Amino acid sequence: MEEIGSKSHVVVLPFPIQGHINPMVQFSKRLASKGVKVTIPIIESVCKSMPIMDSASIKIESIPHDEFPPDPDLLEWLRVLMSNNLTQIVEKLSDSEYPVKVLLFDSTTTWAIDLAHQLGLKGAAFFTQSCSLSAIYYHMDPEKSKIPLDGSDVSLPSLPLLEKDDLPSFVYESDVYPSLARLAFSQNINFEGADWLFFNTFDALEMEVIDWLRTRYTIKTIGPTVPSMYLDKRLKDDKEYGSSLFKPNSETCMKWLDSREIGSVVYVSFGSLASLGEKQMEELAWGLIMSNNYFLWVVRAAEENKIPVELMSKLSEKGLIVNWCPQLDVLAHRAIGCFFTHCGWNSTLEALSLGVPMIGMPQWTDQPTNAKFISDVWQTGVRVKARENGVIITRKEIASSIREVMEEEKGVMLKENAIKWKKLAKEAVDEGGSSDKNIEEFLSNL
Ligand code: UDX
Repeated sequence: MEEIGSKSHVVVLPFPIQGHINPMVQFSKRLASKGVKVTIPIIESVCKSMPIMDSASIKIESIPHDEFPPDPDLLEWLRVLMSNNLTQIVEKLSDSEYPVKVLLFDSTTTWAIDLAHQLGLKGAAFFTQSCSLSAIYYHMDPEKSKIPLDGSDVSLPSLPLLEKDDLPSFVYESDVYPSLARLAFSQNINFEGADWLFFNTFDALEMEVIDWLRTRYTIKTIGPTVPSMYLDKRLKDDKEYGSSLFKPNSETCMKWLDSREIGSVVYVSFGSLASLGEKQMEELAWGLIMSNNYFLWVVRAAEENKIPVELMSKLSEKGLIVNWCPQLDVLAHRAIGCFFTHCGWNSTLEALSLGVPMIGMPQWTDQPTNAKFISDVWQTGVRVKARENGVIITRKEIASSIREVMEEEKGVMLKENAIKWKKLAKEAVDEGGSSDKNIEEFLSNL
C-alpha cells in the first residue's frame, strides 16, 4: 500500500538563521519519514556551514548569490533572490515524478504565500515561535490594540497577566532593530492568507491560547520538532538534530559530561545570536564560579574575547567552555542538572522535551515571554531578572538562582514538573498524539 503523502513533494523555505533552520529541517525529516520528498533551498553562504545531509528524500538546494547588501536592503534582497530561485525549482520539477505541491515557508517570509499561489501551490506558514507570541502580536495590531504602551501590566485573553518585561522586546523597542521588529509583527498576515498554519508547539503546552486562536484561525500544532530518539531512548532516529551552522565540540563535551555525576552540571548557552555586553559576561563568569557547581558553558567564538582572561584559570576549575555543542545530546545527558538559558524558543522546547529545569536570562525578541511561561505557567524554571531595564544582572543574583535550582527544595519541584512536560511532549508527537495527528491530516490532504 502506498504511504500517505508519498509522491508528494514539499519545498521548505526556512529563514536562513540557526534558530529557524533547526526546527524546519527537523520538520522536513519528519515529513520525509512519512514518505514525502522535500527540497530545502538555502543561500549558499549559509549552506556552506551546514553538514552535508542530502538523502533520498531530502535535497538541500544551495542558492548562489552575490555579496550581501547593507542591512536595510537585506530582506528585500532575500525576497528577490529566493522568489526567482523558487520559481525555477518548482518549474524544473513540474514534469518529474514528484511535482511540488506545497511551499512550506517560514512565517517571517510573508511574501511567500503569494508566490506559492502564483505557482499553483498550496502555501503553509511555519511559525518557529510560540502561539502565545503570535497572540501578543495579534493584539499589537493598532486596530485591535489592547496593549497599553505606558509600562502598566497587560491583560490579554487566554494569556497570563504580563508585566512590561514579560512582553516580547519588540513591543517596547521596535526602533532598536526596526526591520526585525516589522518582520516579527508582520508574520500574522499569514493568518489570513496561508492554506495551513503550523506552529512548533504542542496542544498541552499552550492549551488556552491555542484554543483562543482556534476560535479565529485553523492552527495546526506539530511540535516539538525534537527527534523522537531523544524523547524515547528505545527509538532509533537520525541523530543529527536540525542542521548545525557551527561545528560542535562534541567529543570534548560528551567525554567531560561522562566523568560528572548525575544532575551535577549546569549547562549554559545563549543560542546562536544573543550577544551579552562585556560587563554582563564578566558577571556571568563570576556567577558561575561563585555558584560552586560544575558547568558546561557555550561561548561562541565571536564572543570569547569578552571573558576576562584573568578568570580563565578559575573558570576551568569546575567548568568547561566550548564554542558550540551538540545541544540535544548535552541536555539528554544524565549529568545535566539544569539549563541556564536565554530562552530562545528552540532551547525552551528542547529543555521541556528532555525534562531539564531552566534558569532563564532572556535577552530580546520572544525570549522574555518564553521566560515568563517557563517560570510562572509551566513552572519548570526560575528567571533572573534585572531590577530595572538595561541593568546588569549581578554575579550574586546569578549564583543564587543556580543554587536555588541545583541545591534547594524548589529545584526538586521544578524537576518534577519538567518530567511531566517531557511526558506530554512525547505524547504529542507519538503516533496518534495531537501533533502527529495534525501532520497526518496535512499529508492526507496533499
Ligand atoms: C532565535 C531566537 O533567539 C529565538 O528566540 C527564536 O524563537 C528562534 O530564533 P536562537 O537565539 O539561536 O534563535 O535560540 P534558539 O531558538 O534556542 O535556537 C538555538 C538552536 O541552536 C537550538 O536548536 C539549539 O539546540 C542549537 N544549539 C545551541 C546547538 O546545537 N548548540 C549550541 O551550542 C547552542
